[in-house]
Amino acid sequence: MKKIIKNGTVVTAADTYQADILIENEKVKSIGDNLSDPEADIIDAKGMYVFPGGIDPHTHMEMPFGGTVTKDDFETGTIAAAYGGTTTIIDFCLTDKGKPLKSAIEKWHKKSNDKAVIDYSFHLMISETNNKVLEELPRVIEDEGITSFKVFMAYKNVFQADDETLFRTLITAKEHGALVMVHAENGDVIEHLTKKALEEGRTEPIYHALTRPAEAEGEATGRAAKLAGLAHSQLYVVHVTCQEAVEQIAEARSKGYQVWGETCPQYLVLDQSYLEKPDFEGAKYVWSPPLRETFHQDVLWHALKSGQLQTIGSDHCSFDFKGQKDLGKDDFTKIPNGGPFVEDRVSVLFSEGVKKGRITLNEFVDLISTRAAKLFGLFPKKGTIAPGSDADIVIFDPNVKRTISAHAHHMNVDYSALEGMKVTGEPVTVLSRGEYVIRSKQFVGKPGWGKYLKRARFNAGLENKKQTSASNKYIY
Ligand code: URP
Ligand code: ZN
Ligand code: ZN
Ligand code: ZN
Repeated sequence: MKKIIKNGTVVTAADTYQADILIENEKVKSIGDNLSDPEADIIDAKGMYVFPGGIDPHTHMEMPFGGTVTKDDFETGTIAAAYGGTTTIIDFCLTDKGKPLKSAIEKWHKKSNDKAVIDYSFHLMISETNNKVLEELPRVIEDEGITSFKVFMAYKNVFQADDETLFRTLITAKEHGALVMVHAENGDVIEHLTKKALEEGRTEPIYHALTRPAEAEGEATGRAAKLAGLAHSQLYVVHVTCQEAVEQIAEARSKGYQVWGETCPQYLVLDQSYLEKPDFEGAKYVWSPPLRETFHQDVLWHALKSGQLQTIGSDHCSFDFKGQKDLGKDDFTKIPNGGPFVEDRVSVLFSEGVKKGRITLNEFVDLISTRAAKLFGLFPKKGTIAPGSDADIVIFDPNVKRTISAHAHHMNVDYSALEGMKVTGEPVTVLSRGEYVIRSKQFVGKPGWGKYLKRARFNAGLENKKQTSASNKYIY
């Protein structure tokens, strides 16, 4: 069914203007004044912003962790994402050591096929780089269109990889056109500090934060950035939380290294004191890296504004408070790490960012959609509103005021980490490839509508153009 969105204010990363949008065959057909078509369904967007659907580059649906599995699967998680104005997610496919990468990818296809209500793609975790893995990687890029790999520098004895693995992944990514993502925390230091805390009988949730200091994140971020520079490769640091890490990214970028950074809404609006809530409620705020002291929030906002950080991921990783978080009642290291944010990512950034004057409307669109599309090989199919692009579109009421609450959210989890937060703005209607997923704030989509997206090889079009001081003495 053709559609025309009329009377709205179209917002992209580059422009803000009044225009109508004609949608046909899942795509934006044309943009202009007074468009008409007798066969088209008319959507009145008067008083609304019309922007490209959000792209959440960081989710964990139905992911095993710490002896349990995240509550949201690809159905509930993508429904919640759509309610929140997100029309594409990129989820992390976890691999098992010693098994072919393809077997993990098949597992993730099984979880998502027939379930997702919006389009989706996968990043692939790399935990070892033996010859088998290095041989398989180019085929994964080619056959699956998976052009981003994640290496964990933390979670010792679980996900953590060593520097050789990271370095070899960076080199392979450079050769074959992929982007390497890192969870940057020094896992060895954290292992020592957590053991010591437990020996001293410090078992409460706050010790999760106190044993994962900002310096451990800064150190790993700097190390990863230097290895990326050494490999002449490209690096994306996920969930950046603190000044120490931002400084390392800024320094690497000033040298011309191809390094980018993501932060998450939770680090922009919550702080470490939440982990001290009584009655074990602090466990609701346990994820890694942890929440920081309040001043880091301002550092992150400034980094988003100045372009030292480029994207917002939700790191959506939902565990119930009752029955999952309480696995760590007597030992903070057993609290499953993660929080539910896929539904609130766009609204928090709009309300706290645009409405409070920290970022412009166009920067907001860049942060929630366009940059992720460019970095992860989806642009211009996704990430903008332009003729030929997929009609993934959010019609957003910028003035409605509401309070975030678990009673109102659609994530399949028994609490909201943002409970009681007042925000301005809400998606009203959300289209995925031209079809309604959310219509007048009601879900009308269908599981299985969402398509798996094979992504293009890394070619960000965002290159950090600074001249590099490191000359290519030796090409690895
Ligand atoms: O605590 C978190 N962030 N859980 C999800 C896994 C990860 O590190 O991204
Ligand atoms: Zn992580
Ligand atoms: Zn400030
Ligand atoms: Zn994550």
